[in-house]
Amino acid sequence: MPSFLQGWQQRLSALRNVPPVLRMVWDAGPALVAAGLVFRVASALVPLGVLWVSKLIIDLVSTTVKAQGPVPTEIWWLLLLEFVLAGSGHIFGRLIDYCDSLLADEFTRHISLRVMDHAAHLDLVSLEDPSFHDTLERARVQTTDRLSMLNAIGRMIQQFVTLVSLAAGVFFFAPWLLVVLVVAVIPAFLGESHFAFLGYSLAFHQTPRRRQLDYLRVLGASRESAKEVKIFGLGTWLRTRYAEITDSIIRENRALARKRVVVGALLALLVSLSYYGAYAVVVYQTLLRNITIGDLIFLAGAIAGVSSNISALFSTFSSIADQALFLTDLIKFFDVRPRIQSKPDALPAPRPIRDGFIFRDVSFHYPGSDRLVLNRLNMHLEPGTRVALIGENGQGKTTIVKLLARLYDPTEGQILLDGVDLREYSVEDLAREIGVIFQDFMRYDMTARENIGVGRIELAHNEALLRESARKSMASEVLERLPKGLDQMLGRRFDGGFDLSGGEWQKFALARAYMRDAQVLILDEPTASLDARSEYEVFLRFAELTEGKLSILISHRFSTVRMADRILVIEGGAIREQGTHQQLLAKGGVYAGMFELQAAGYR
Ligand SMILES: Nc1ncnc2c1ncn2[C@@H]1O[C@H](COP(=O)(O)OP(=O)(O)OP(=O)(O)O)[C@@H](O)[C@H]1O
Ligand SMILES: [Mg+2]
Repeated sequence: MPSFLQGWQQRLSALRNVPPVLRMVWDAGPALVAAGLVFRVASALVPLGVLWVSKLIIDLVSTTVKAQGPVPTEIWWLLLLEFVLAGSGHIFGRLIDYCDSLLADEFTRHISLRVMDHAAHLDLVSLEDPSFHDTLERARVQTTDRLSMLNAIGRMIQQFVTLVSLAAGVFFFAPWLLVVLVVAVIPAFLGESHFAFLGYSLAFHQTPRRRQLDYLRVLGASRESAKEVKIFGLGTWLRTRYAEITDSIIRENRALARKRVVVGALLALLVSLSYYGAYAVVVYQTLLRNITIGDLIFLAGAIAGVSSNISALFSTFSSIADQALFLTDLIKFFDVRPRIQSKPDALPAPRPIRDGFIFRDVSFHYPGSDRLVLNRLNMHLEPGTRVALIGENGQGKTTIVKLLARLYDPTEGQILLDGVDLREYSVEDLAREIGVIFQDFMRYDMTARENIGVGRIELAHNEALLRESARKSMASEVLERLPKGLDQMLGRRFDGGFDLSGGEWQKFALARAYMRDAQVLILDEPTASLDARSEYEVFLRFAELTEGKLSILISHRFSTVRMADRILVIEGGAIREQGTHQQLLAKGGVYAGMFELQAAGYR
């Protein structure tokens, strides 16, 4: 199939996207939609009324002048009527704008909330996928850009009503005139549509590059990157990359715009030609006295109206069809479903956990790569033990935690909790029983209260709990120094924010873990940024606090690791060695080697 036709097929099928979006519009503000419609229909009938009254006025004037009679009083009534009609047309126009602007706010709010809700329920797998981010980006833009489509739909309704009313007038006089007018517009419509489609394809292919641009812009001037950009002198380099990408985008856009202007001008000329042809016929008929001057005025106006409304209608329709193409992304985004979901008859998480977690031949690779990060891993994590995972960078420690917390499911094998596959439990319930602080924990540019409270957001108002959690993680020492205490804004993003050091942020992150009354506590390098004294105290408390629970610690520091009841050395996604600190040292294997290496550094 030629690409031109293929484009058309794609565009027409995209019109399927319009009804669900209209439904969203309706949900956003039913009263506003209804009012907008009523005003549009009323406003659409005004041109016909005005033309008809003008015709009556002209005919009355010309017969009066010809007959040299007195001024008829009727003329004043007709003038008043035309004024009322034209005036109400303006008022309807304003009312339509008013309804539209209110509806625009409601619609943006409605869609933005839906996009946020939906994104919050998706899997990490989706969120880590770059092509998903392209879709998300397009969907995000939809929420604001698609407002023009709503406008277009409203306009189309109005143009349609006006067109039908004026066409009835033209048809009444000469049906074939109407046919000429319609036929002349079709090529213009096809041309416009074709270019609009090319525009969409272009925008579609440009999205990844536009995301790159956004990223470069942020890198060039963000607080996080400022230090490195300055030290490494990256300013010019970033600028050049930005300029290169924008150049390529502009080049493509220009090429399309050039073609569009030439073809568009030729087609518009054709439309004008048909209009003036029809006009000439009407003028000629008037001179032959087949119709009155009033008729001439009416028909000239109606023909002009029909001609401009047909092209407007076609171009509005074609712009709706294009916008509908963009909606594909919004709808596609809403169609992405999380794979990790609770089954309909999901089990509640066991409380207390009796047997713990068993990894049975668990293998895992991240989507989009076939390298096995975990390779037939077998292990048993019993409640009441403090387990340490240790191993070199990239061996799969964090990945194990992600699987345990069910952020991903194993590619092969099974993870059992108390003898039942993790997939059988309710995801939300399981999440409540597991407190995890990842090594790349978040620093929320929000208040200290919120930074701790997010650990258990439904109890964030509980001041005693917040303070207690802060005490356990040693964040309370930091809190004391904050001018506004718990209500201190943290981070540098917002005015009055108080920036913390890496270790201080980490203490806040730790406090989040203590907000939860979880049976499993997992800390991924919780002391990486802590000083020696803080590390020691944090662990002393951690040891007390996790008494009787299952706790998993990931650390590269042996001072931390040696406190664990059981140490698992992870290598290549499987367990290489395990035992207590003493046992592993005595064994003289990998662990002993790593320990010696670190210890030697201190001698
Ligand atoms: N989201 C991801 N997508 C694809 N690959 C990933 C992803 N996260 C991690 N990996 C890969 O999986 C491997 C294991 O990563 P993991 O984070 O589990 O290592 P780790 O043992 O925690 O290392 P570290 O000590 O550096 O924290 C790495 O080689 C990494 O490249
Ligand atoms: Mg890690």
